[in-house]
Amino acid sequence: MSPTNPKSEIENPKSNITRRAFIGTAAALGAIPLMSRLPAAFAAGSDRIKVGVIGTGGRGTGAMRNCLKADPSVQVWALGDIFPDRVESAFKGLRDGNPNARNPVAPLDASRFAVTKERCFSGFDAYKHVIASGVDLVILAAPPHFRPLHLEAAIQAGKHVFAEKPVAVDAVGARKVLSVGELAAQKKLAIVAGTQRRHAPSYIETMRRIHDGAIGDLVGGQCYWLQQGLWHRGRQPEWSEMEYQIRNWLYFTWLSGDHIVEQHVHNIDVMNWAFGGPPVKALGMGGRQARTDPKYGDAYDHFSIEFEYANGARIQSFCRQTPNTQGRVNERIVGTKGVAMGDGRITGATTWKYDGDTPNAFQIEHEDLIKSIRDGNPLNEAKRIAESTLTAILGRTSAYTGKEINFAWMLGASKQDLTPPKYEFGDAPPVEIPIPGVTPLV
Ligand SMILES: NC(=O)c1ccc[n+]([C@@H]2O[C@H](COP(=O)([O-])OP(=O)(O)OC[C@H]3O[C@@H](n4cnc5c(N)ncnc54)[C@H](O)[C@@H]3O)[C@@H](O)[C@H]2O)c1
Repeated sequence: MSPTNPKSEIENPKSNITRRAFIGTAAALGAIPLMSRLPAAFAAGSDRIKVGVIGTGGRGTGAMRNCLKADPSVQVWALGDIFPDRVESAFKGLRDGNPNARNPVAPLDASRFAVTKERCFSGFDAYKHVIASGVDLVILAAPPHFRPLHLEAAIQAGKHVFAEKPVAVDAVGARKVLSVGELAAQKKLAIVAGTQRRHAPSYIETMRRIHDGAIGDLVGGQCYWLQQGLWHRGRQPEWSEMEYQIRNWLYFTWLSGDHIVEQHVHNIDVMNWAFGGPPVKALGMGGRQARTDPKYGDAYDHFSIEFEYANGARIQSFCRQTPNTQGRVNERIVGTKGVAMGDGRITGATTWKYDGDTPNAFQIEHEDLIKSIRDGNPLNEAKRIAESTLTAILGRTSAYTGKEINFAWMLGASKQDLTPPKYEFGDAPPVEIPIPGVTPLV
């Protein structure tokens, strides 16, 4: 287990660097013998698992390292990104490591890094080539817009998947993930989502206690992701508008889902976990107060949403990305007998504080994934991550339109589909900042 305190990665709202603080441990990345073609269920300790990364940015390469560390037989097999420069830097970064960094990352030998130039792919179709390259497992870490498309292709081709959160940006995409999740279950394929709190022992133990009645009946709560600003990658004169938007995908709702979906989904997912499923409706607001420069696309910089669950309890969700403001990232669940904080504190009739192991949850989710594949009992988290993603989309849509919206309507009837007319470098979808009372509900 890594000595890293997961709180610094799970909860630190101050920078995008800490939340992407990936672990590279030389000792964990030892050599393995090359074995023959794999069966669908792998025997423990034998047969390599060939992994392809689709979206080789910060999290794609970080998740790949977590996956390598999770099992000595994992091998990096293929890399794909829309941009060749990102593939190139991932290739070098993974192969050569960074032995001089404060947290040194070891270089990989050929038994762990089997990528050849022929198995490096770029362009909008890079995902198809990675999936067809002979991989057993794919890591999906492109911007969220592409997740349903990439997930569907991977599952149809019979590949296990680690899919970063969120898994969609609109209702149509979330529905696709739900149906692909069912297909994965039929095919006995794994889908593990990058909502690492679900794999953190502190969260698991807190939820067990909540569900065992430690705080009584749930009556309300709050969840927060309040942080400073994030990166912006600028504009180059040779870039088309499409390239500009994809390079700066955080700020375009069709690509990221906006930050309530892209980032706050972590905390919304915890609330859905506590309440046993998604809410029945949402009423929210939001806007752009500080991040008004056109370079920031159409994304809002703050949201506040009230979600109501099936038992009538209402919770408040807050998210903000604004420099020089108070940070807070956590979840607070209120019951008739006490209050629980998601990461391991209960006060009230019962007082309790988690004092067990705090392994790096980014690491544990990959260990759980690989173990489930090896055991022939693959984890399938598609339904709950699709529901949590759609919950965040529900909140965003309420804020954008100014309307109260039912989850069931969003799930069953909404035609919201942010897919552009075509995927090619040239024009991109027009940037229209949503205005409550004007923006239509679709
Ligand atoms: N679980 C977590 O805590 C956590 C932390 C950070 C990021 N993430 C998620 O990981 C995903 C990636 O985030 P990131 O921080 O690595 O961003 P990033 O910008 O560093 O990486 C995204 C990569 O995807 C590439 N890309 C864009 N369109 C693509 C396409 N159509 N096909 C293939 N590649 C494409 C980009 O060029 C880029 O290299 C996002 O969904 C994000 O929400 C999760």
